Amino acid sequence: MIISIVNQKGGVAKTTTAINLAAALGERGQKVLLVDLDPQGNATTGIGVAKKELALSTYDVIMGEARPSEAVIKTGFENLWVMPATQSLAEAEVRLLKFDNKNLQLRKALLQVEQDYDFVIIDCLPSLGVLALNGLAASDKFLLPMQCEPYSMEGAAELINTVKRVKRTYNHALSLLGIVFTMYDKRLTVNREVRSMIRKSFAVDTVFKTEIPRNVKISESPSHGMPVIFYDGASAGAMAYRKLAEEFLTKTGGKPAAE
Ligand SMILES: Nc1ncnc2c1ncn2[C@@H]1O[C@H](COP(=O)(O)OP(=O)(O)OP(=O)(O)O)[C@@H](O)[C@H]1O
Ligand SMILES: [Mg+2]
Repeated sequence: MIISIVNQKGGVAKTTTAINLAAALGERGQKVLLVDLDPQGNATTGIGVAKKELALSTYDVIMGEARPSEAVIKTGFENLWVMPATQSLAEAEVRLLKFDNKNLQLRKALLQVEQDYDFVIIDCLPSLGVLALNGLAASDKFLLPMQCEPYSMEGAAELINTVKRVKRTYNHALSLLGIVFTMYDKRLTVNREVRSMIRKSFAVDTVFKTEIPRNVKISESPSHGMPVIFYDGASAGAMAYRKLAEEFLTKTGGKPAAE
């Protein structure tokens, strides 16, 4: 199953969620490929891969110049592989425009490796341009990380419209797996108010029960190249992402980990 982590708003914990969900699924015995679809390459460094040592990356794959199996590398963590990205991916945003099927390049590539993993998790960049459309067009489902802040709903509405377009044109099967509240701080009135407003406006199943709290261990772990469950496994952040993985497996009907 292929899942995009998407929100065109920047800094809402897409990458944090992609890395930590992927790692927590790996810990539960699921084979996971994390695809870095952002020229910032934060998922790549956050999972402990040095960008300057890379021969091939998502850029080469999306341009059709390398097979995914050639670009994917094993991370230092159990059951977890990454297709890394570097700044060069920004060029794809321009170069893809002259392709006939510019929004279907990633889908075409991932079809070759999808069967090798239980889950492919795509960390999208904060935009709704051609790269993000490639992510959505390649996905069975998308997961929407959201901060409980005043303008979050407007962004979500715009995204859901884009998804409708992708669904109509490229990928009829695409659906929302769920909204995840990130960096949640129950001491903040605004967080509490927006949370209850959003929970009321969506069906109960649409918003994950698990909420990711604001937690300093989560923000420290990427500079050590580690998912939080390995950086500080007992932290509130680690527990939240483990719980999210459990709920994610229930929602996707993913198989329980083989012992
Ligand atoms: N639960 C959390 N607690 C504390 N800090 C967090 C938490 N989640 C994310 N952060 C921090 O917030 C910042 C933004 O997170 P992240 O990079 O994951 O967002 P993003 O949506 O991927 O951003 P971009 O849109 O630039 O790709 C990072 O510095 C990250 O460490
Ligand atoms: Mg990011």
